[in-house]
Amino acid sequence: MTADHHSGKEVNISALRKALLTWYDVRALSLPWRAPPGERADPYAVWLSEVMLQQTTVAAVLPRFQRFIERWPNVQALAAAPLEDVLAEWAGLGYYARARNLHACARLVVEVHDGRFPQDPAQLRTLPGIGAYTAAAIAAIAFNVPVMPVDGNVERITARLFAIDQPLPAVKKRIAARAATLQNAHRPGDFAQAMMDLGRTVCTPKAPTCAACPLKDVCRAHAHGLAADLPRRERRKEKPHRSGMAFILHNSSGQVLLRRRSLSGLLAGMPEFPSQGWDDAPPFWPDARPFGVKTRPLARVRHVFTHFVLDLEVREGLHPVLADDDLPDGYFWLDPLELSVVGLPGLMKKVARSAGFLD
Ligand code: ADE
Repeated sequence: MTADHHSGKEVNISALRKALLTWYDVRALSLPWRAPPGERADPYAVWLSEVMLQQTTVAAVLPRFQRFIERWPNVQALAAAPLEDVLAEWAGLGYYARARNLHACARLVVEVHDGRFPQDPAQLRTLPGIGAYTAAAIAAIAFNVPVMPVDGNVERITARLFAIDQPLPAVKKRIAARAATLQNAHRPGDFAQAMMDLGRTVCTPKAPTCAACPLKDVCRAHAHGLAADLPRRERRKEKPHRSGMAFILHNSSGQVLLRRRSLSGLLAGMPEFPSQGWDDAPPFWPDARPFGVKTRPLARVRHVFTHFVLDLEVREGLHPVLADDDLPDGYFWLDPLELSVVGLPGLMKKVARSAGFLD
């Protein structure tokens, strides 16, 4: 039994565990990386799904996960794949460091760990792309280690269960410590996923459906009529704005010019229309004349990154003479019909659409 200052009463944790697992046995969402309640899942599938879900919704991940796992059904297959193929398969999911880390992680698991994911969260954390949350999620879901992965869902549920009303992010550690006390030694993987499902379907951020909640009798926020108000947050600072240009250069065969971005920095290694001014590299064509070609404004595109909002001016021009052999390293001409298969990142897909390419 444990109490928080607001409640004055205790939360009955063993009743809570029982109620949530009973709910999960009936209500568990059926997801392709999941084993049925009570069974063990494939660690490779759990790891892949957790990395995909780090910044992306379940609905967006589902079809991508299927394609990925059909193409590379195990960690050995993924480790043997060229990085470029992995980046292309990841295209559109965003946060491409995840794809590079995924590939590096697969190689390490094969080369250093004999093709088997470690079970210990501390060891999992030494692998690329695996932070505290993902390590705990893999350990609990794939190996039944009784640790609690604390994502936004678990954080919200915990803040409500204990009526913790100090604001995030300052109270993050306290919430995580509370969440850890909830974990269940009997079925840790199911318990963690039950929390995630509850957060997605019942204990939702804005309008939780407390009447349908298996934990309503133990939830302190519910008892105080506070569920929808928790967790509280400090007001977010506005994201800074950046601006730049992207160039759609055509040649007389109707092809467009692309290049591969450098292997470090934003959108590392991804193909793009030549662009400038928005990343850390200094603008290369300050007069907006790439390769001396006069360009005219065509469209404007806005894209929201994690740390800034980007306004990109899309400019268009014709370069009738430049041949493949004369292009600098990393540049190539492409038939616009092939734009859908080169693995453009989301930002560059918007640029392509603004120029009338892609759907
Ligand atoms: N979000 C992150 N991991 C998840 C999982 N295993 N099930 C449901 N939602 C999740």
